[in-house]
Amino acid sequence: MTSSKAKKKLSEITKAILREELDLYILKNAVTELKQLLEALSGINMEAQQNSENIALPTGKAIGPKWAGMCLEDLLRTYKFMKGIHAAIKTVHSKNPKRPATILYTGTGPYATLILPFLSLYKPSQLQLILLEVNPVSIKSLMNIIKGFDASKYVNEIYHCDASNFSIPPKLDADILLVECMQRALLHEPQVAITYNLLSQMKKETILIPQNISLYLTLINQKKKTKYQTETEKAVPMDFYENSEAIFTLNKNEVLKSSEEFKKEAFQFPEIETTFYKEKLQNNDQIAITTEITIFENITLNINESGLTIPLLLADLEQDPTIIGAKTQYTLGTDPGLTSKLMRSL
Ligand SMILES: C[S@@+](CC[C@H](N)C(=O)[O-])C[C@H]1O[C@@H](n2cnc3c(N)ncnc32)[C@H](O)[C@@H]1O
Repeated sequence: MTSSKAKKKLSEITKAILREELDLYILKNAVTELKQLLEALSGINMEAQQNSENIALPTGKAIGPKWAGMCLEDLLRTYKFMKGIHAAIKTVHSKNPKRPATILYTGTGPYATLILPFLSLYKPSQLQLILLEVNPVSIKSLMNIIKGFDASKYVNEIYHCDASNFSIPPKLDADILLVECMQRALLHEPQVAITYNLLSQMKKETILIPQNISLYLTLINQKKKTKYQTETEKAVPMDFYENSEAIFTLNKNEVLKSSEEFKKEAFQFPEIETTFYKEKLQNNDQIAITTEITIFENITLNINESGLTIPLLLADLEQDPTIIGAKTQYTLGTDPGLTSKLMRSL
């Protein structure tokens, strides 16, 4: 395929994804077409055994290119990230109309999925990219794709590196830090370590995307959940779950508050104790960890909208009615995530 044909196709797909009104059918078709286009240009056979292999890093797991490429299919995730990134680019442009918005994107996967569509909306004088990825196959794929779109003028730098210990060269300056190396409940992958490492080296005005990720201990009422999910009436309230105060938060304030402490080997996030009132426990049947993601401003990924926001079940309250809450602590290391100890009434 010629690069002008590829660019034309990308432009049609981008318009369909970013259209004003969300239409899941149109979105699904556009995302499928985007995946086919990127796969074709990448020239990598994702079914080869090595492309399913994850890389174990000191700060978590870097999922293999096959799995990273499949993230695209998480429709509302892809849609909302793109909407949020678009809004963030516009914000940077409105503040600095005469220079490009520069995005440092880490964990690009093989396709740089979340920013690539913007090449069809902006010129290189309006958008510049710095790309970080630890998997060599994904780096090769990225290079092929950039060539396929004849897009090298958009690319400031590509680094094959571990972003959780990467030192940003002083010559680089970005307006937006985009990190998407995560699973639900910030489990297993190095989203937290990468965000702390990179954001603390960047200028104060940097826009972090996702802007906020919060984890909660959540009570879930299964009956109400089923009713909500099967109700065709759209006005039904989403009242099947109740969140605690956040038990872990990742955003710019949190990072800047403890970025110096974070660098010390002995650094630990605090342990948080959460208990629920008896009546609330009696009115619900599950206790879970839930994830809420603000991508940018009012663009959020809410419970169950994406694989990233599916609750992680901790306990069944009907089977274990003595549970009153949990002690939780976000822990770093080769398998990051929340450790939790259930608390019971005496
Ligand atoms: C969940 S995938 C997301 C892919 C892509 N961002 C998307 O949204 O479709 C995470 C990607 O981050 C990469 N990654 C994980 N840890 C990394 C690290 N420490 N430094 C650089 N890349 C990393 C993985 O190799 C993988 O390609």
